Amino acid sequence: MSASPDDHTTPLAYPALREPQCPYQPPSEYAKLIEHDGLVQAQLRHGDRVWLVARYDEVRATLADRRISADITNPHLPVPVHGRPTFARMDDPEHARLRRLFTSAFTVRNVNALRGSIETVVERTLDAFASGPNPGDLMRDYALPVTSQMICLMLGVPYEDHQYFEEKAAAAFQLDLDPGVKKAAFTEMFEYTRKLVNDRVPQPTDDLVGRQAAHIAAGELNLEDAVMNTMGLLVAGHETTSSMICLAILVLLEHPEQLARIRDTEDASVVARAIEELLRYITIAETAIVRVATDDLTIGSHRVRKNDGLVMCLPAANRDGKFAGANDLDIDRDAHGHLAFGFGAHQCLGQNLARLELQIAVPALLRRLPHLKLAVGLEELRMRLGILSVEKLPVTW
Ligand code: HEM
Repeated sequence: MSASPDDHTTPLAYPALREPQCPYQPPSEYAKLIEHDGLVQAQLRHGDRVWLVARYDEVRATLADRRISADITNPHLPVPVHGRPTFARMDDPEHARLRRLFTSAFTVRNVNALRGSIETVVERTLDAFASGPNPGDLMRDYALPVTSQMICLMLGVPYEDHQYFEEKAAAAFQLDLDPGVKKAAFTEMFEYTRKLVNDRVPQPTDDLVGRQAAHIAAGELNLEDAVMNTMGLLVAGHETTSSMICLAILVLLEHPEQLARIRDTEDASVVARAIEELLRYITIAETAIVRVATDDLTIGSHRVRKNDGLVMCLPAANRDGKFAGANDLDIDRDAHGHLAFGFGAHQCLGQNLARLELQIAVPALLRRLPHLKLAVGLEELRMRLGILSVEKLPVTW
């Protein structure tokens, strides 16, 4: 088949809405995408038509193809606002040059060195949560404080400002908001971050903002790139993992036997395997991976033309037949190779931090509050799409 995503009249609205009775399950349309031979046309919320790539092997092959670009200065890249680029929206070699500034901070070894800090933050946050109002909101009062404090610590951003930047980030990156409102939130956050980085240049500190300030002082990095790097990490560092903590707890409350095994085990490898499976099963990054074809190419048996936009439907790819019984949660499964963090050059920089935060924050909560329950019906939860999340997660214990 050879057609531009613009040719078709009835594209799938993407991301598709979720069943209120089971909001953590991918919409039924996604299962059909895996069965379909070829790519499917979709229309993103902001209007762009794209091809959805949904099968596991095709997602990996596409993300490894050099004719596929993440460059936000390309007007055909299907994103709502073409603003300033972070390295996540650049191609190599510029992408690799900027990403390299951070890779050592996020290696397994260096993230493991943060274990004690994560445990302290989790325990302190749990003390406050458990003695706070019951029912409580697990998102606002547990998941967000844990992930925000950790990324602030790594970057050297004052945690006292968290309410400000969490609000701006939520507005700048929420799918359904007016582009003008999103742009205004982005600009405010840019100015906040610019001051933060600039103030550090005369006296660089030993954190990720300070290290960039030292590169600026040495003439090796420009201020604008440093600001965008910092904003990207600040947002990715708290929004994604806090969603995953809440959705992991939600899914486990619906699978009480598997919840009990995670709560009661002393074997860290059981927890680590369970977290990989939860990452696969939930797959929060629905619209994170957007690309544009820079040349004509074939994906599977499907022709894609130069300038066509592409989105990787990771929730579908992670439910592909590659994982036996993919629609069942099985915390004993080896979910290794899942695509929840993407694949290829742009694969998630913060994945080791996200894993460790989840491995600590999820069992710690289950142990501290063994009678934890959802305080509302599943259908009352308000989901955010794009990076799948829940606005509030009211729980009781
Ligand atoms: C459960 C939590 C997380 C999930 C599911 C997730 C998912 C992803 C995915 C799918 C991508 C690929 C985007 C693409 O190919 O265009 C990505 C990239 C990225 N993530 Fe994450 N992420 C998580 C946590 C984090 C954290 C905690 C950080 C930072 C501390 C982070 C920082 C980044 C950055 C900087 C990129 C861009 C990498 C590049 O373009 O080279 N992420 N993430």
